[in-house]
Parts: sequence; structure tokens; C-alpha cells
Amino acid sequence: MRAGFVSLVGAGPGDPQLLTRAAYDRLQRAELVLYDALVSSDVLALAPHAQRFYVGKRAGRASMSQETINRLLVRAARRGRRVVRLKAGDPFVFGRGGEEALALDAAGVAFEVVPGVTAAIAAPALAGIPVTHRGAASAFVTVSGHDERAWAPVLEGLPPHSATIVVMMGRRSGREIASRLIARGWDITTPAAVLVAASTPGAQTWMGSLGDLAGAGASSSLNREEYGDGAGTIVIGEVVRVGQQLAGGLAPLAGAIGRESALADSEMATASGATGRASAR
Ligand SMILES: C[S@@+](CC[C@H](N)C(=O)[O-])C[C@H]1O[C@@H](n2cnc3c(N)ncnc32)[C@H](O)[C@@H]1O
Repeated sequence: MRAGFVSLVGAGPGDPQLLTRAAYDRLQRAELVLYDALVSSDVLALAPHAQRFYVGKRAGRASMSQETINRLLVRAARRGRRVVRLKAGDPFVFGRGGEEALALDAAGVAFEVVPGVTAAIAAPALAGIPVTHRGAASAFVTVSGHDERAWAPVLEGLPPHSATIVVMMGRRSGREIASRLIARGWDITTPAAVLVAASTPGAQTWMGSLGDLAGAGASSSLNREEYGDGAGTIVIGEVVRVGQQLAGGLAPLAGAIGRESALADSEMATASGATGRASAR
């Protein structure tokens, strides 16, 4: 029997254009795909020959335990199958990819890791927010807002304004995190952004201040009625001003190809002797 193989693959933030070529290749060849919440249907559609199983959390129902997922991966590989374990963003950023890699290694199963574009960087970038920017931030800190025991020691040890803060899984705790930062000396006018469902058709961007996030603004920025159930990433720091400045001129990802070809046409016309904008078009 052929030996099985598991690829732990990062699916990026949602738009299939943000998949790596390796991720695309593994999906095309997959026989079985085990995927999590937040993996978009457009990305799943790139695995046409695979059986696909959802192993993430379901509203109101307990999620499959990590041990069960590990067992499924090992069993499928031992049956000789080509398995893709597909996770949103990067599998090693708040994705439990490390645990699965250790379980596969312990079971003697051949596997690889295919890194993905993490939402921690891509969600801000798609809104024109660089996580580092000369003169504004030379470091960024990414925390999970899921559990206060995880974020509190990190954020409380961070000198005010010393780094960009990116909070994942923070739509419930964002308000509390903002209040805590203000109490520790962060200025209430520090810019902040909430990026919901970045790179998907439901993408929404809110930009305001840390004070807004801690107070009344937070109810609108994190409010599910207004912003839906999509995953949200919070960014706090001066870098958000870059996104505010770029807001008018930034083309959405979907429009990039058209825009590029318009630029290429104009460059070609200029190179072949045409002068001026009107003649280049
Ligand atoms: C369990 S973590 C997984 C992170 C993922 N491994 C990554 O590298 O992006 C889920 C969190 O990722 C963030 N996230 C994932 N996809 C996103 C998207 N399209 N837009 C904004 N945030 C997203 C949200 O903060 C969400 O709560």
C-alpha cells in the first residue's frame, strides 16, 4: 500500500488569491481535507477530488477534540491517503498546528507544513495598515483575546506606544483590552482599527481611536448586529493612521488585476513614444 502523507496547510484569510502555490498544489492533489471554521468555501472548492470534513467549532455544539482530530489524521495517513489539514491563515499562528505536527511525528507519519498568509498581518494590510512603519512602530505584538490569562501579562508588560498591538479572537475582549491599555498609560487618541472578514465578500473595516474602542465606539466597532459574525482582528497603534491616509486610494484586492493592466498599458504606450496620460489610455 502507498504510504500516506499529511500536509498541514495555511488557507490564508479567505480570498483564494492569497493562497501560496504550495497550498494550491496540495489542495488539487488531496484525497481528504479536514478543515476548520473560517476556511472559505472558495478555497475548499480548490480540492475537487477530495472528501471534505469539517472539524471546527459549530455554533452551540462542542467542537471535535484535538485528540480526535489527531487520531483522524494519523488513521487516514496510515490508510495511505493524501491528507490536507486546512487551517485559516497560517497553521502555526493560533491554529494548533504545532500540536498536530507533534502528534504526526510521534505516530511516525510523514508530514509537511505549508505556511499560510496570517490574518494578523494580512487583515491590516488589506486595509492599508502596515504592522510596522518607520517613525510609527518598529515592532508588533500579536495576542489572542480569547483568554485574559494569555493577553494580560503580555500587554501589561508592554510600555505604552512601544509597539503595534494586533489582537486576534478579540471581538469579545476588545473593549476590556482597550480599557486596560488606557489605564496603563496609552493615550485615548491612539488610533485603532477593527478588520472583520478581511479579503472575503463580507469584509468590513472600522477605524477610530482606542477611546472609542474602550467606550461607546466599541459597541459599534465590535457589534455583531452591525458587523456580522465574521472573524475580527483588532489593530492598535500609530500605524492605523497610515490606513486612514490610504483609505481613499487603496484598490481592493479583487480590483488589483484590472488596475495593474491599466498601468501596464499606460507604461507600454509611454515606452512606445506616446506622450501624456490621455494618449496612454
Ligand atoms: C483561531 S485564530 C486563527 C488565526 C489563523 N491561524 C491566522 O494565522 O490567521 C482565528 C482568528 O483569526 C483572525 N482572522 C482569521 N481570518 C480573518 C479574516 N479574514 N479577517 C479578520 N480576521 C481574521 C480573527 O482574529 C479570528 O478570531
